Amino acid sequence: MVSITTLVSLALTAPLMASALVMKRAECNVNNLAIPNLAGLPAPTAKGAFVGIALGTQNYTCTSAGVYTNVGALAELFDISCLTKSPFFEALPDILDAAWQAAPPSITAPKIIQFLHSISSPEILGQHYYVTNPITGSGINPKWDFTSQGATAGNKDAFVVAAKTAGIAAPTGTANDVDWVFLSAIQGKLASQVYRTDTRGGQPPATCDPASDPIVVKYVAKYWGFGSTL
Ligand SMILES: *[C@@H]1O[C@H](CO)[C@@H](O)[C@H](O)[C@H]1NC(C)=O
Repeated sequence: MVSITTLVSLALTAPLMASALVMKRAECNVNNLAIPNLAGLPAPTAKGAFVGIALGTQNYTCTSAGVYTNVGALAELFDISCLTKSPFFEALPDILDAAWQAAPPSITAPKIIQFLHSISSPEILGQHYYVTNPITGSGINPKWDFTSQGATAGNKDAFVVAAKTAGIAAPTGTANDVDWVFLSAIQGKLASQVYRTDTRGGQPPATCDPASDPIVVKYVAKYWGFGSTL
Protein backbone atom coordinates (compact mmCIF):
# COMPACT_ATOMS: atom_id res chain seq x y z
CA MET A 1 0.00 0.00 0.00
CA VAL A 2 1.28 3.46 -0.93
CA SER A 3 2.20 5.56 2.05
CA ILE A 4 0.40 8.87 1.87
CA THR A 5 3.53 10.50 3.25
CA THR A 6 5.55 9.29 0.28
CA LEU A 7 2.94 10.49 -2.15
CA VAL A 8 2.69 13.88 -0.50
CA SER A 9 6.43 14.42 -0.32
CA LEU A 10 6.89 13.42 -3.95
CA ALA A 11 3.98 15.38 -5.29
CA LEU A 12 4.91 18.51 -3.41
CA THR A 13 8.64 18.62 -4.05
CA ALA A 14 8.42 21.37 -6.63
CA PRO A 15 5.70 23.58 -5.10
CA LEU A 16 7.11 23.34 -1.59
CA MET A 17 10.46 24.39 -2.88
CA ALA A 18 8.83 27.26 -4.74
CA SER A 19 6.97 28.52 -1.69
CA ALA A 20 10.06 28.22 0.49
CA LEU A 21 12.17 30.27 -1.87
CA VAL A 22 9.89 33.10 -2.87
CA MET A 23 7.58 35.47 -1.08
CA LYS A 24 5.06 35.50 -3.87
CA ARG A 25 4.21 31.88 -4.38
CA ALA A 26 3.26 31.77 -8.02
CA GLU A 27 2.51 33.74 -11.11
CA CYS A 28 5.52 36.02 -11.19
CA ASN A 29 5.62 38.22 -14.28
CA VAL A 30 7.22 36.32 -17.16
CA ASN A 31 6.80 38.88 -19.96
CA ASN A 32 10.58 39.10 -20.29
CA LEU A 33 11.12 35.37 -19.94
CA ALA A 34 14.27 34.13 -21.68
CA ILE A 35 15.41 30.53 -22.02
CA PRO A 36 18.99 30.45 -20.68
CA ASN A 37 20.12 27.71 -23.06
CA LEU A 38 18.26 27.22 -26.33
CA ALA A 39 20.81 24.63 -27.46
CA GLY A 40 20.19 25.38 -31.13
CA LEU A 41 16.40 25.68 -31.08
CA PRO A 42 14.87 28.76 -32.74
CA ALA A 43 14.47 31.72 -30.36
CA PRO A 44 10.97 32.72 -29.24
CA THR A 45 9.45 35.68 -31.09
CA ALA A 46 6.80 36.64 -28.52
CA LYS A 47 6.53 37.62 -24.87
CA GLY A 48 6.79 35.01 -22.14
CA ALA A 49 3.54 33.39 -20.99
CA PHE A 50 4.53 30.61 -18.58
CA VAL A 51 7.40 28.48 -17.37
CA GLY A 52 6.81 25.23 -15.58
CA ILE A 53 8.56 22.11 -14.48
CA ALA A 54 6.79 18.89 -15.33
CA LEU A 55 6.81 15.40 -13.94
CA GLY A 56 5.16 12.57 -15.83
CA THR A 57 5.58 9.73 -18.28
CA GLN A 58 6.16 9.27 -21.99
CA ASN A 59 4.05 6.47 -23.51
CA TYR A 60 5.45 3.97 -25.99
CA THR A 61 4.25 0.99 -27.98
CA CYS A 62 6.45 -1.61 -29.62
CA THR A 63 6.35 -1.66 -33.43
CA SER A 64 6.56 -4.77 -35.60
CA ALA A 65 10.18 -3.76 -36.27
CA GLY A 66 10.94 -4.28 -32.56
CA VAL A 67 11.54 -0.66 -31.59
CA TYR A 68 9.49 1.61 -29.38
CA THR A 69 7.50 4.46 -30.86
CA ASN A 70 6.15 7.38 -28.84
CA VAL A 71 2.36 7.42 -28.55
CA GLY A 72 1.75 10.23 -26.11
CA ALA A 73 2.54 11.46 -22.63
CA LEU A 74 0.93 12.57 -19.43
CA ALA A 75 2.46 15.12 -17.05
CA GLU A 76 1.69 17.67 -14.37
CA LEU A 77 3.23 21.15 -14.63
CA PHE A 78 4.28 23.22 -11.62
CA ASP A 79 4.70 26.98 -11.85
CA ILE A 80 8.35 28.02 -11.57
CA SER A 81 7.86 31.58 -12.82
CA CYS A 82 9.07 32.96 -9.49
CA LEU A 83 12.22 30.85 -9.53
CA THR A 84 13.84 31.95 -12.79
CA LYS A 85 16.38 34.11 -10.93
CA SER A 86 16.93 31.63 -8.12
CA PRO A 87 20.21 29.72 -7.83
CA PHE A 88 18.08 26.53 -7.73
CA PHE A 89 16.51 27.10 -11.14
CA GLU A 90 19.12 25.03 -13.01
CA ALA A 91 19.03 22.26 -10.40
CA LEU A 92 15.25 21.81 -10.38
CA PRO A 93 15.12 19.10 -13.10
CA ASP A 94 17.69 16.95 -11.29
CA ILE A 95 15.99 17.43 -7.92
CA LEU A 96 12.55 16.52 -9.23
CA ASP A 97 13.91 13.68 -11.38
CA ALA A 98 15.61 12.09 -8.35
CA ALA A 99 12.35 12.15 -6.38
CA TRP A 100 10.30 10.85 -9.31
CA GLN A 101 12.74 8.04 -10.20
CA ALA A 102 12.83 6.97 -6.54
CA ALA A 103 9.04 6.76 -6.21
CA PRO A 104 7.62 3.22 -6.06
CA PRO A 105 5.89 1.91 -9.22
CA SER A 106 2.52 2.15 -7.46
CA ILE A 107 2.78 5.93 -7.61
CA THR A 108 1.79 6.64 -11.20
CA ALA A 109 1.41 9.90 -13.08
CA PRO A 110 -2.43 9.67 -13.09
CA LYS A 111 -2.41 9.06 -9.29
CA ILE A 112 -0.21 12.09 -8.67
CA ILE A 113 -2.45 14.27 -10.82
CA GLN A 114 -5.59 12.98 -9.12
CA PHE A 115 -4.08 13.61 -5.70
CA LEU A 116 -2.83 17.10 -6.54
CA HIS A 117 -6.21 18.09 -7.90
CA SER A 118 -7.88 16.96 -4.71
CA ILE A 119 -5.82 19.53 -2.80
CA SER A 120 -5.83 22.12 -5.61
CA SER A 121 -2.35 23.48 -5.00
CA PRO A 122 -2.02 27.02 -6.37
CA GLU A 123 1.44 26.24 -7.76
CA ILE A 124 -0.01 23.81 -10.30
CA LEU A 125 -0.18 25.24 -13.80
CA GLY A 126 -2.03 22.34 -15.37
CA GLN A 127 -1.56 19.16 -17.35
CA HIS A 128 0.21 18.06 -20.49
CA TYR A 129 -1.30 15.21 -22.51
CA TYR A 130 -2.18 14.27 -26.08
CA VAL A 131 -5.40 14.76 -28.02
CA THR A 132 -6.65 13.91 -31.50
CA ASN A 133 -5.48 16.67 -33.84
CA PRO A 134 -8.39 19.18 -33.58
CA ILE A 135 -7.77 20.59 -37.08
CA THR A 136 -7.39 17.45 -39.17
CA GLY A 137 -9.20 14.97 -36.90
CA SER A 138 -6.44 12.41 -37.36
CA GLY A 139 -3.23 11.70 -35.51
CA ILE A 140 -2.44 13.02 -32.03
CA ASN A 141 -0.89 16.29 -30.87
CA PRO A 142 0.42 17.49 -27.52
CA LYS A 143 -1.78 19.77 -25.44
CA TRP A 144 -1.04 21.94 -22.40
CA ASP A 145 -4.25 22.39 -20.47
CA PHE A 146 -4.33 25.06 -17.74
CA THR A 147 -8.14 25.32 -17.64
CA SER A 148 -8.60 23.55 -14.32
CA GLN A 149 -5.81 24.82 -12.05
CA GLY A 150 -4.03 27.87 -10.67
CA ALA A 151 -4.49 31.42 -11.93
CA THR A 152 -6.26 30.30 -15.13
CA ALA A 153 -8.72 27.87 -13.50
CA GLY A 154 -12.13 28.19 -15.14
CA ASN A 155 -10.80 29.93 -18.27
CA LYS A 156 -11.84 27.61 -21.09
CA ASP A 157 -9.31 29.21 -23.48
CA ALA A 158 -6.32 28.51 -21.21
CA PHE A 159 -4.89 25.73 -23.33
CA VAL A 160 -2.70 25.19 -26.35
CA VAL A 161 -2.55 22.28 -28.79
CA ALA A 162 0.71 22.40 -30.72
CA ALA A 163 2.75 20.73 -33.45
CA LYS A 164 6.49 20.18 -33.36
CA THR A 165 8.48 22.63 -35.48
CA ALA A 166 12.02 21.73 -34.42
CA GLY A 167 13.84 19.30 -32.17
CA ILE A 168 17.40 18.64 -31.02
CA ALA A 169 19.06 15.84 -29.09
CA ALA A 170 19.15 16.56 -25.35
CA PRO A 171 22.54 18.18 -24.56
CA THR A 172 22.71 15.85 -21.52
CA GLY A 173 22.73 12.82 -23.86
CA THR A 174 20.07 10.88 -25.72
CA ALA A 175 20.57 7.54 -23.95
CA ASN A 176 18.20 8.59 -21.17
CA ASP A 177 16.89 12.04 -21.94
CA VAL A 178 14.25 12.85 -24.55
CA ASP A 179 14.84 15.57 -27.14
CA TRP A 180 14.40 19.26 -26.54
CA VAL A 181 11.62 20.51 -28.81
CA PHE A 182 10.05 23.67 -30.16
CA LEU A 183 6.36 23.61 -31.07
CA SER A 184 3.93 26.02 -32.69
CA ALA A 185 0.29 26.35 -31.64
CA ILE A 186 -2.46 24.97 -33.85
CA GLN A 187 -5.28 25.78 -31.39
CA GLY A 188 -5.80 27.63 -28.09
CA LYS A 189 -4.80 30.94 -26.54
CA LEU A 190 -2.38 29.89 -23.80
CA ALA A 191 0.71 30.32 -25.99
CA SER A 192 1.69 30.49 -29.66
CA GLN A 193 5.10 28.88 -29.08
CA VAL A 194 6.01 26.10 -26.65
CA TYR A 195 9.40 24.66 -25.72
CA ARG A 196 10.43 21.48 -23.90
CA THR A 197 13.94 21.78 -22.46
CA ASP A 198 16.10 20.42 -19.62
CA THR A 199 14.75 16.92 -20.08
CA ARG A 200 15.59 14.09 -17.71
CA GLY A 201 14.54 10.56 -18.61
CA GLY A 202 11.70 9.58 -20.91
CA GLN A 203 13.70 7.45 -23.37
CA PRO A 204 12.48 3.87 -23.98
CA PRO A 205 14.73 0.80 -24.14
CA ALA A 206 16.51 0.50 -27.52
CA THR A 207 14.62 -2.62 -28.60
CA CYS A 208 11.44 -4.50 -27.71
CA ASP A 209 9.50 -7.66 -28.41
CA PRO A 210 6.75 -6.75 -30.94
CA ALA A 211 4.27 -8.76 -28.86
CA SER A 212 4.98 -6.78 -25.70
CA ASP A 213 2.58 -4.40 -23.97
CA PRO A 214 2.81 -0.59 -24.16
CA ILE A 215 5.12 0.98 -21.59
CA VAL A 216 5.40 4.30 -19.79
CA VAL A 217 8.80 5.88 -19.04
CA LYS A 218 9.19 8.52 -16.33
CA TYR A 219 10.50 11.93 -17.31
CA VAL A 220 10.96 15.47 -16.08
CA ALA A 221 11.24 18.60 -18.25
CA LYS A 222 10.85 22.32 -18.24
CA TYR A 223 8.05 23.66 -20.44
CA TRP A 224 8.03 27.28 -21.62
CA GLY A 225 5.20 29.15 -23.32
CA PHE A 226 5.42 32.40 -25.29
CA GLY A 227 2.82 34.52 -27.04
CA SER A 228 -0.34 34.15 -24.97
CA THR A 229 -3.52 35.75 -26.34
CA LEU A 230 -5.58 35.02 -23.22
C1 LIG B 1 -0.33 7.81 -21.58
O1 LIG B 1 -0.25 7.08 -20.37
C2 LIG B 1 -1.05 7.59 -19.33
C3 LIG B 1 -0.77 6.78 -18.10
O2 LIG B 1 0.43 7.21 -17.54
C4 LIG B 1 -2.51 7.54 -19.74
O3 LIG B 1 -3.31 8.11 -18.72
C5 LIG B 1 -2.69 8.32 -21.02
O4 LIG B 1 -4.02 8.18 -21.46
C6 LIG B 1 -1.76 7.80 -22.09
N1 LIG B 1 -1.91 8.69 -23.24
C7 LIG B 1 -1.84 8.26 -24.48
C8 LIG B 1 -2.10 9.26 -25.57
O5 LIG B 1 -1.60 7.11 -24.76
